[in-house]
Amino acid sequence: MSALSTEINRRRTFAIISHPDAGKTTITEKLLLFGGAIQLAGSVKGRKAARHATSDWMEMEKERGISVTTSVMQFEHKDCILNLLDTPGHEDFSEDTYRTLTAVDSALMVIDVAKGVEARTIKLMEVCRLRTTPILTFINKLDREGREPIELLDEVESVLKINCAPMTWPIGMGKRFKGVYHLYKDEVLLFSPHHEGKIAEAEVIKGLDNPKLDEVLKDQAEELREEIELVKGASHEFNLEDYLSGQLTPVFFGSAINNFGIIELLDAFAEYAPAPKPRQAEQRDVAPDEGKFSGFVFKIQANMDPAHRDRIAFMRICSGKFDKGMKINHVRIGKNIQVGNAITFQADSRKNVEEAYPGDIIGLHNHGTIQVGDTFTQGGKLKFGGIPYFAPELFRRVVLKDPLRSKALQKGLTQLTEEGATQLFKPLKNNDLILGAVGVLQFDVTAHRLKTEYNVECVYDAIGINTVRWVSADDPAKLEEFKRKAYDNLAEDGGGYLVYLANSRVNLQLTEERWPDIQFNATREL
Ligand code: G4P
Repeated sequence: MSALSTEINRRRTFAIISHPDAGKTTITEKLLLFGGAIQLAGSVKGRKAARHATSDWMEMEKERGISVTTSVMQFEHKDCILNLLDTPGHEDFSEDTYRTLTAVDSALMVIDVAKGVEARTIKLMEVCRLRTTPILTFINKLDREGREPIELLDEVESVLKINCAPMTWPIGMGKRFKGVYHLYKDEVLLFSPHHEGKIAEAEVIKGLDNPKLDEVLKDQAEELREEIELVKGASHEFNLEDYLSGQLTPVFFGSAINNFGIIELLDAFAEYAPAPKPRQAEQRDVAPDEGKFSGFVFKIQANMDPAHRDRIAFMRICSGKFDKGMKINHVRIGKNIQVGNAITFQADSRKNVEEAYPGDIIGLHNHGTIQVGDTFTQGGKLKFGGIPYFAPELFRRVVLKDPLRSKALQKGLTQLTEEGATQLFKPLKNNDLILGAVGVLQFDVTAHRLKTEYNVECVYDAIGINTVRWVSADDPAKLEEFKRKAYDNLAEDGGGYLVYLANSRVNLQLTEERWPDIQFNATREL
């Protein structure tokens, strides 16, 4: 095997999907702890706090107690290199979350044992399904009382439409939580609470029939045997192929805060999760072990380091090896750039990249030329697709306080919307500038940044738009007719694509019924 293939095969690039409060931050921290990237639990939160204290527009983030940043963490486990792409937890930033999911090869779904499948998880699973992303599942907080495990798996299967294969099974929960039984290793891992943030391996009892189990678990041993019998009969068996094709999710139980069940997860990532695979470009599929470098930008983040007021473009490497100082082609604008100062993201610092491989994420300094969705190659025209824009659900008309700043407003809005947190719509019938967002906080962030970065003050007006749809038609004549008749409700988005502005769901439905030859799309792929 070539050196490049070896590096590719050991990469695991993933994100965590969950509803807020299920334990994503805690798990992230514990994964890093076990992966040796940090020495003591607590430092992830510490890192966030430090960033808050020094950043300026992110002060808002601190005030509201949420995280609007996305970062990348690299760590090792069992000769694998894991790239964990953090996604903002707050729902206002879901566009970023969605795009981050286009840059991963698999995902970890975290579910709170007491709450089961929640709204955000459903939404994020829909996004994962667009690319049939393989999903590992962790059911968290078994140290608390929760719902019956069987009932939870049923809920995952029926609501999320994915088969569940329990890999471990909990022994009691809450006060009676004694550990988990690993169905495939036939061993019991005993639980002991560990809050201090140190690594501790669980005590293992081999074999379900081991009399030692009865000693330790007392009457829970017999209960466990009966339950396992039942579970084996009633649930799906793990099957690698079904996992990799997104049909089935292996399920693990544990308690992140107590460091329990984390190693089994890491082992599963190393053993089962997919390494980078060929990726679809408009022209052809690009295999990761092609000699030539290629990658695409899935996110642009402003002001990550307040010491430099720059923007960082996050690029996922799809093929070839990245070497410091190499020349790559920025395909959209047809320009070669030499990349001497790309950065990698470690848990506690940013470092200059010397080399990086498919599956890795590197950060490019962006001075306004890079957009979300841009492809970079080592020569050769390629365009990676699949980065979605979602129809926003909230809309505001931008009103400038000083009319003389109109040019600066246009520039600011164009650049900020290119980062992708908000979308810009320009109605055909007038000169309004309408912002669309998935969450209301994005409006505040945009106004704040317009003021601090572009010196433009604006306020927002309410506007009677309920949702938008990107419109297209196979028959250009039909589209022209639609454009004439629906002119007052049409706009262009930031990329110049035609959108229909619907002032209510009913209006949208009626319009769709009236125009059967027009496609109304709720997402647009970059
Ligand atoms: P999130 O990023 O998904 O929003 O969740 P986060 O990790 O912040 O966890 C949400 C809350 O759940 C936190 O409590 C966290 O300590 C708790 N938690 C995480 N894992 C477990 C677990 O295995 N068992 C129990 N019992 N609790 C768990 P908090 O009180 O909201 O925050 P904090 O004051 O502890 O930071």
